Amino acid sequence: MNFKKNILCIGAGYVGGPTMAMIAYKCPQYKITVVDINEDKIRAWNSESLPVYEPGLYEIVKKTRGKNLFFDTNIPKCIKESEIIFVSVNTPTKDYGVGAGQAADLQYWEKTARTIREYAESPKIVIEKSTLPVRTSLAMERILSSGKKNIAFEVLSNPEFLAEGTAIRDLENPDRVLIGSRETESGYIAREQLVEIYANWVPKEKILTTNLWSSELSKLAANAFLAQRISSINAISALCEKTEANIDEVATAIGMDARIGSKFLKASIGFGGSCFKKDIMNLVYLCRFYGLKEVAEYWEGVVRINEYQKERFTRNMLNAMFNTLAGKKICLFGFAFKANTGDTRETPSIFIAEKLIEERANIIITDPKALENAKNDLGHLNSHIEYMKDPYKAVQGCDAIALLTEWDIYKSLDYRRIFELMTKPSFIFDGRNILNHSELYEIGFNVFPIGKPPFTHFK
Ligand code: NAD
Ligand code: UDX
Repeated sequence: MNFKKNILCIGAGYVGGPTMAMIAYKCPQYKITVVDINEDKIRAWNSESLPVYEPGLYEIVKKTRGKNLFFDTNIPKCIKESEIIFVSVNTPTKDYGVGAGQAADLQYWEKTARTIREYAESPKIVIEKSTLPVRTSLAMERILSSGKKNIAFEVLSNPEFLAEGTAIRDLENPDRVLIGSRETESGYIAREQLVEIYANWVPKEKILTTNLWSSELSKLAANAFLAQRISSINAISALCEKTEANIDEVATAIGMDARIGSKFLKASIGFGGSCFKKDIMNLVYLCRFYGLKEVAEYWEGVVRINEYQKERFTRNMLNAMFNTLAGKKICLFGFAFKANTGDTRETPSIFIAEKLIEERANIIITDPKALENAKNDLGHLNSHIEYMKDPYKAVQGCDAIALLTEWDIYKSLDYRRIFELMTKPSFIFDGRNILNHSELYEIGFNVFPIGKPPFTHFK
């Protein structure tokens, strides 16, 4: 079949895979190829067991794979054959040298640019899909245009706003698609080509075009604003616990103000995930780089409150359980950083598990999708941790349950049966406020929500 365009995506991770699957699904006229240096990952994308769990993803991959969606490892050949190249490689926080702990590690992204330059034989539009520090595209242009080849490259910024667990829904019906370009004739021509791709399913008024730097910075700012809301509500949850105010009631009351809005006001054990902390630290680093100390400190506070919330949660557990966890069995309900994903990157559960083990508790972890990742994350701990898929088996003989991920299944478990299986007194720490606390109390549990008075049977 003759395709209208050959589109390549370098990086077959949580973003590259689902994003390209959606483009392939919506645009049968384009050939989409996704490549990665990780051959196992490409093998998995070509198998029945995809490397990323996202509701609805498997169905669209099944419909497109082998028709206009391909997963490949031959990066040079695919670069040669494509006109448009998305780059969706990882951009983690640097853990060495200058900016360690804050700046973005750009080595993967830079290597990709050099590879594109090495194998390209015709003009290409190169699109930043990864989240990058503002003005990275300038470095990219410089790398692509250096050397002897006289090939025209146009760099665009098209940050991705999908959230894990709802990636397919977000990609199918995005709030907006953001495209940044150079404000030159060739920049506008390239931008129009990308607009044309998205216009196959995204209404034109939702496709926002800006200059390159605004686009790059908007992605960092959007994540910082979202994380800031969570830190704000979590900060207020600490005050609720001191004053008998109820955080869910407070969130409803403030969220009804149309200027504030009701989303992203769910108090929790703190935000996790591969993006929020990394992108805020990146923003903080940029601010310091440009001499904006006060601005850097402001955003750093969002991460500080997040660390505080995780710490507070484990400290509350310790206090509630008579100031000793040594030898006690604690079951963690959920390990993923949020529901509907197996991803555990930066999940608060890692911190909480480490702290509980430090207190010499024995922990048992249950999660519908994240047990394999949990094993890897906690492999460094010299401690016996049990991993069990079945929550009823996991709670056997436990003193406490700490609910860490808001999986729906935890709402509908038979807590009477669970209570019978546990050691007494039995504790539940609901780190997501999703359970029916008064009902659990009636059953006999001592219940500790976030930002609400506890329900205990102690005199
Ligand atoms: P990921 O780690 O899941 O995937 C990145 C992939 O790039 C890996 O499979 C890696 O092997 C591959 N890769 C690295 N260097 C390569 C190279 N030189 N050539 C070919 N492949 C290479 O990361 P991700 O979660 O998909 O994130 C990718 C980017 O998107 C990051 O910048 C991230 O900040 C951003 N982002 C992520 C999310 C999210 O929810 N995960 C959402 C929006 C934006
Ligand atoms: C985030 C952004 O939402 C997305 O736009 C961006 O592209 C990538 O980063 P993601 O990290 O996948 O997406 O999930 P998100 O739904 O934002 O949740 C992040 C963390 O915040 C999770 O740990 C979640 O449990 C927590 N959270 C979210 C809360 O604690 N309370 C809330 O009200 C919302």
